[in-house]
Amino acid sequence: MSSETNQRGFTKLPIEIGDLSLRRPTVQDFDDFVEFYCDEAVARFQLFEPWTEENVAFHLQSQLGVRIGDPGVALCLAVVYRPDWKVIGEVSITIQDLETPEADIGFTMNPRYWGRHLGSIAVHALLGFGFGRMAMHRIYAFVDTRNDRSWRLMERIGMRREGHFVRWRKIKNEWIDDYGYAMLANEWRPEVALEIQSRTPAS
Ligand SMILES: CC(C)(COP(=O)(O)OP(=O)(O)OC[C@H]1O[C@@H](n2cnc3c(N)ncnc32)[C@H](O)[C@@H]1OP(=O)(O)O)[C@@H](O)C(=O)NCCC(=O)NCCS
Repeated sequence: MSSETNQRGFTKLPIEIGDLSLRRPTVQDFDDFVEFYCDEAVARFQLFEPWTEENVAFHLQSQLGVRIGDPGVALCLAVVYRPDWKVIGEVSITIQDLETPEADIGFTMNPRYWGRHLGSIAVHALLGFGFGRMAMHRIYAFVDTRNDRSWRLMERIGMRREGHFVRWRKIKNEWIDDYGYAMLANEWRPEVALEIQSRTPAS
């Protein structure tokens, strides 16, 4: 691992791992963010509809005021693909409980880069940051059971399926089932990123 770590995970930004770099987003990322957040494929299983350009501008502006460790607000990291020097996704972590402490995560990648395990590497690094720098005990996510790409990603990086919640959320006028996935701090393994990279054919 090239980035700074402690025994629990990553401690510093940017996190540099393989072809990816994870850093705080800036307003200069606007065009790259529009490319994926305004895409219908990206919103299919999410709470939101495809974003407008105004949504993207507001989001990037509001992230400027978020500090690492702020509870109840998403801390977002832009996922930069270094060979193209382009932001190809965004991952986020939100502290939901400071006592436990635990956080939930979200992740969105540009469809042009799907299926290359870049999402897996990015989310694994995000967990490393959540356990390392943010000192979380538990990190979790809920995923629509139809979103195979998302729950496969979480399984590949070692998150555990903890439950199947039947028709428990109504999204876009439809009752949906979710799987709950989680990982504890002592379950995060840094070598997983290298294992994923070594099993991924070069594109
Ligand atoms: C979920 C998401 C981040 C995955 O990004 P990605 O870079 O493609 O992720 P990876 O390449 O690491 O893994 C994708 C998995 O889906 C699999 N996959 C590929 N094509 C697929 C298809 N047509 N249908 C289902 N799964 C597919 C891949 O094979 C891989 O799993 P496997 O290697 O274990 O078989 C991306 O699809 C995305 O941004 N989706 C929209 C936003 C979203 O739904 N976010 C999650 C909300 S919970």
